[in-house]
Amino acid sequence: MCGIIACVGRGDDTLDTLVHGLSKLDYRGYDSAGVALTGSGDDTVEVVKRQGQLDALRRVLETARADGAEPRGTVGMAHTRWSTHGAPSDANAHPHTDCTGRVAVVHNGIIENYQALRDELAANGHEFRSETDTEVIPHLIEELFDGPEYDPADPEPAIREAVARLEGSFAVVVSVAGVETLFGARQDNPLVLGTSPRDAGSAGGERSEPRAGATYLASDVPAFRAFTDRVVYLENGEFARIDAEGWTVTGTDGEVVQTSVETVDWDPEDTGKSGYDHFMLKEIHEQPRALRQCLQGRVDEMGGRVTLDVDVDPERVQFVACGTSYHAALYGAELFRQAGVPAQAFLASEYATSPPPVDDALVIGVTQSGETADTLSALREARSRGARTLACTNTVGSTAARECDDVLYIRSGPEIGVAATKTFAAQQTALNALALSVAQERRRAGDVRDSLSALRELPGDVQAVLDESNAEALAEEFVGAPSYFFIGRGVHFPVALEGALKLKEISYGHAEGFASGELKHGPLALVTDETPVFAVVTGDGPLATKTIGNVKEVESRDAPVVAVTDGRSKVERYADHVLEIPEAPPRTAAVLANVQLQLVAYHVADRLGRPIDKPRNLAKSVTVE
Ligand code: M6R
Repeated sequence: MCGIIACVGRGDDTLDTLVHGLSKLDYRGYDSAGVALTGSGDDTVEVVKRQGQLDALRRVLETARADGAEPRGTVGMAHTRWSTHGAPSDANAHPHTDCTGRVAVVHNGIIENYQALRDELAANGHEFRSETDTEVIPHLIEELFDGPEYDPADPEPAIREAVARLEGSFAVVVSVAGVETLFGARQDNPLVLGTSPRDAGSAGGERSEPRAGATYLASDVPAFRAFTDRVVYLENGEFARIDAEGWTVTGTDGEVVQTSVETVDWDPEDTGKSGYDHFMLKEIHEQPRALRQCLQGRVDEMGGRVTLDVDVDPERVQFVACGTSYHAALYGAELFRQAGVPAQAFLASEYATSPPPVDDALVIGVTQSGETADTLSALREARSRGARTLACTNTVGSTAARECDDVLYIRSGPEIGVAATKTFAAQQTALNALALSVAQERRRAGDVRDSLSALRELPGDVQAVLDESNAEALAEEFVGAPSYFFIGRGVHFPVALEGALKLKEISYGHAEGFASGELKHGPLALVTDETPVFAVVTGDGPLATKTIGNVKEVESRDAPVVAVTDGRSKVERYADHVLEIPEAPPRTAAVLANVQLQLVAYHVADRLGRPIDKPRNLAKSVTVE
């Protein structure tokens, strides 16, 4: 939630670097955007900010540039906002400054004690210009600057003291007019440091060699990935100082922290649209590659084994997750139960407030970003109660990855569209492999062998769905329906939930997903001849037979039925339309069926002209509870 990019050392290129960084971060929020620049000799930090998406800010900056009045400086920071305190407006946009304009701050997170700080500062004469919690930070720093011990040549102690007074979650970057250094701190919100290649030798927290290029602070790597692939993931409580000479990271005690510089292994091009109209469509089409990456080196079909870099054989499993990741968790729980391990999936926000006993449970946090506050909170709760934790995530170096005992990376590559697509498929696939590895430990060899070849064929089967899907034509037929319903049983129940979430999230249409058997217990009252029902029915076993019974119930109420099927159950006899998938066992059929539903959601939303990659009110990374 909210995106930060800041840099020192890009010279005349600073403003363009910031705007480029913002364009890579606007998946984190897009209510408003702003920049702040300063350079040697300046008395104030120059700030430009605008309500609305990044283009609104771009237009202002272009006009300023044409007039020779663009903000200038060699030290800069920028922010894209997802509102928590105060409506989207120019005034509430970041960066925020103190009364004098000497201190500018960008922030991601929530300052929980902001009201008390604001009252205290207001009583001391500070005038606030926004409704945000963030604005207390520059004023607090200003207050400390005015103290007797302040040395204008070194603002760091005052900034550290201000940060120490903040309660809540934050990643902050602070710039001081005329000071060619940026200061960053994090607590429960991500902040990464990007260092240019020659700085790599400074690992260990020593100051790097004299300037080898620029240094960056950002909420996420894509913001500076075009300039460097070398990254330091800051930990909670750490304080970073970056300048033209390099960088240092210190702990709350001021001591230098031993950090390591990691190299990210994905290409900057991975964060572009590559000719697709939307990131979401690009990411849907990237699924075959994402699944190959996810499975690489993990599935040995010849040897009949799954080999993962995590080794678990738990007595019980509890999954915690939110949104789409929760649907993957429901899917994972079903597969663990099939492997003979009692497993439950919990909404992370509910788990944290009312945690079940953990005993000998392995608690698995499923989170593509690894930064979702609700999920982190649930994992911390589980850990504090003695559970072993495992992060199933896409993001190397994320908070979940670092805080959990074990990590299972889903390796789908960066996902930019707010709607999770390829990460869901990769979560399903990684959890499938994890459950198989447990079945293998328990010598349920039959389960493993039967599933390995399906896993190996999965990327190709997804490609076949993408190549042959008729979802676009179908979406055309049903665009504007008053409601859409999705049903499925067993591993297809989470697919039904996910189909509905995707459709409502990006098309703003009303959609609900149900376990097939539940329709007749209430939701059937909503089914009419105008409400399409998407039924996921694969194979020809007892679950398919039961779901066909539920299909007949809606068919006899004249609802248009769309069967998502491999054709084996002959459900098409009762359906008006078919979305076909290749034959596959249920656990991989669930991935294939979901791809068809992703395409339906995408094309309905596209036909309605919705802002697909940035649906209203949503953000990619939800770092508040
Ligand atoms: O990063 P996470 O996987 O933890 O995110 C969880 C949800 O916020 C996320 O899946 C959300 O529901 C997506 N926008 C759905 O498309």
